[in-house]
Amino acid sequence: MSRLIVVSNRVSVPKARGAAGSQGGLAVALGSALRERRGIWFGWSGKETQTFSGHLDMQKNHGVTTATIDLEPQDVDEYYNGYANRTLWPLFHYRIDLAEYESGFGKGYERVNQRFADSLGPLIDPEDTVWVHDYHLIPLGERLRTRGNKNRIGFFLHIPWPPRNLLVALPFHERLVRTMLAYDLIGFQDEESVDSFLGYCRKELQAEVSEDGTVTFDGRSVKVAAFPIGLDYDEFLEGGQTGDARQAEQRMRSSSRYRKVIIGVDRLDYSKGLPERFDALGRFFDTYPERVKETLYVQVAPPSRQDVASYQKIRNTLEQKAGQINGERSEVDMVPIRYVNRGYSRQELFGIYRSAHVGLVTPLRDGMNLVAKEYIAAQDPEDPGVLVLSRFAGAAEQLELDGEGALMINPYSMEETSEAIRTAIDMPLEERKARWEKLNEVVKTANVERWRENFVEALGA
Ligand code: ADP
Ligand code: G6P
Repeated sequence: MSRLIVVSNRVSVPKARGAAGSQGGLAVALGSALRERRGIWFGWSGKETQTFSGHLDMQKNHGVTTATIDLEPQDVDEYYNGYANRTLWPLFHYRIDLAEYESGFGKGYERVNQRFADSLGPLIDPEDTVWVHDYHLIPLGERLRTRGNKNRIGFFLHIPWPPRNLLVALPFHERLVRTMLAYDLIGFQDEESVDSFLGYCRKELQAEVSEDGTVTFDGRSVKVAAFPIGLDYDEFLEGGQTGDARQAEQRMRSSSRYRKVIIGVDRLDYSKGLPERFDALGRFFDTYPERVKETLYVQVAPPSRQDVASYQKIRNTLEQKAGQINGERSEVDMVPIRYVNRGYSRQELFGIYRSAHVGLVTPLRDGMNLVAKEYIAAQDPEDPGVLVLSRFAGAAEQLELDGEGALMINPYSMEETSEAIRTAIDMPLEERKARWEKLNEVVKTANVERWRENFVEALGA
């Protein structure tokens, strides 16, 4: 078996069994995928240095070898906070209104991708397979090719790929897409992203696109396909057997005084549709005032990317909305919303999900959304809760199940979300069980191992 080299901006091996954190979907999925395979995880250390040296910090970390480099403050500003999170992230999540285009961001992005290639290149043996992740590193494959690396190199995008009409708003979009054609395999979360990418190649590049999703351009062929990411199902369930998980569940149940609990768990990101969700809850409480006392909404939202203004803004908006909803409806011994900004361990999260009658996952756009899958996996098979899911999450393609899985909503419609909450809360046990069994089967089988195997196998082919 050839060695697997995984590259992503952030290298944060989940601290094995425990430790609180809010790592986001990518870190959670990769940590478990890599633990089982001899290989290296390469990326940014998360630290800054005044002058870039390219020094590699190699460590063995919970069964995974990591190799990281430090970046200069200007790199972090232009590449991570800039091009990645102020240009690509909003645009790829359909927030063209928030996307900023500064030439310095683009230069920083190219510089850091070059730095990644220069530091990583010498580590790669000829028979290694290289797997590059996410929007921070789109040009990396091409940079490695220019250095002479002839390995199989694959790329997986964890966020949505936007439709052609949106993408062309990005200055130099063609240059970015052309660099992607240096990979041997490009993976997306869902078919919609695959279609958008192929449509772009056909129309903007006049590339040849075959029935099976192979793009041929400039003498190179790249295979493009959907590989929906999954959960480390067994690990998550194992965590659910621990004292920490049980304690967290019990704390939720007793402190909610046996009200119906609705749970939301999201990085504090504008793509997650949190203000819209809070408004829908307000609507639910207004439409069914008798339910206020019977319901508790718990929103866990760890802050994210706080150096970017749009993230500071969403944080303020939510604080204001949570305050208002509670101010208007609380009693001296009861609040309808608990709004929590901290991270929890995976075990505690399991218990928190399990205590909730409704899992509310309502992003305006999301590559996949692992929280939806975690909520399902954590349910008690004898008394499962109901998942309310946005049609704009990548997970929707798998969890809609022809109307027999999650309750699907349009997160832009307060009324639809509010009605789905009511339906979920009132759903009889029999229907809850029937829906959950179908959903659980998908989450259990389309797991992270399957995702990794499918991708690596296709890359080797
Ligand atoms: P994204 O990758 O955009 O953050 P996902 O839903 O795909 O969205 O992944 C989020 C991951 O981060 C999930 O595995 C979730 O459990 C984890 N997470 C989110 N919030 C917290 C938190 N407060 N504490 C611990 N983990 C969290
Ligand atoms: C999403 C992205 C990841 C990213 C994560 C957390 O899952 O797809 O690439 O790591 O969010 O965001 P952060 O900026 O903190 O790494």
